[in-house]
Amino acid sequence: MTILFISGSTRKDSFNTKLVKFSYNYAINIGIKSELVDLAIYDIPMYQGDLESENGLPQDVKKLKELFYNSRGLFISTPEYNGFFPPLLKNTIDWLSRSEVEDEEPLKVFKGKVAMIVATSPGKLGGIRALQHLRVLLNNVGINVLPNEMGIPLAMKNFDKDGNLVDENLKNILFNHISSLKNFINKDRNNKNC
Ligand code: FNR
Repeated sequence: MTILFISGSTRKDSFNTKLVKFSYNYAINIGIKSELVDLAIYDIPMYQGDLESENGLPQDVKKLKELFYNSRGLFISTPEYNGFFPPLLKNTIDWLSRSEVEDEEPLKVFKGKVAMIVATSPGKLGGIRALQHLRVLLNNVGINVLPNEMGIPLAMKNFDKDGNLVDENLKNILFNHISSLKNFINKDRNNKNC
């Protein structure tokens, strides 16, 4: 089953999208079944209760729910906005947490999923303050967030024009994290088989 690679920013030159793509390429190289998910292509309004009661779930929420449901988990890179993750991620998770039909198991799209979370920002802390909050949100919906996380600071210096992470130390840490995601998936698969 696939790991979905998601950026918390839809900005054209987003550093987090660069980090997601760079991480995705490494994940593919080491044999993790992976898929890039661009939240910009999903037409998802800001959650509002009346909208849901009157029209049900928007088509693109249903599409994304299906994708999440059929995945093994997530790799998310988030921007930090005032110490928090951005509304795009909260709104997406909120919609995905809603049931499509009355007897749907609560939070079914998140059940049994694993997540790895990272961040990057032009600042010196690399967005790490957003990670603690994103971890809590993902835990609240039932996702097992792996302990390894990292923020890549000074994004303007640490990524080249093609979106590659150039600092060798940071690259090694990131690659070790992604390898540990692979180990987790493999161990989990073996445990479920026995
Ligand atoms: C920011 N930025 C920011 N950076 C940071 O390191 N800590 C912070 O708390 C904030 N706060 C913040 C609030 C708001 C409203 C904006 C728009 C920006 C800067 C932010 O890290 C920068 O714009 C990144 O480039 C955003 O991520 P992407 O779009 O490059 O992935």
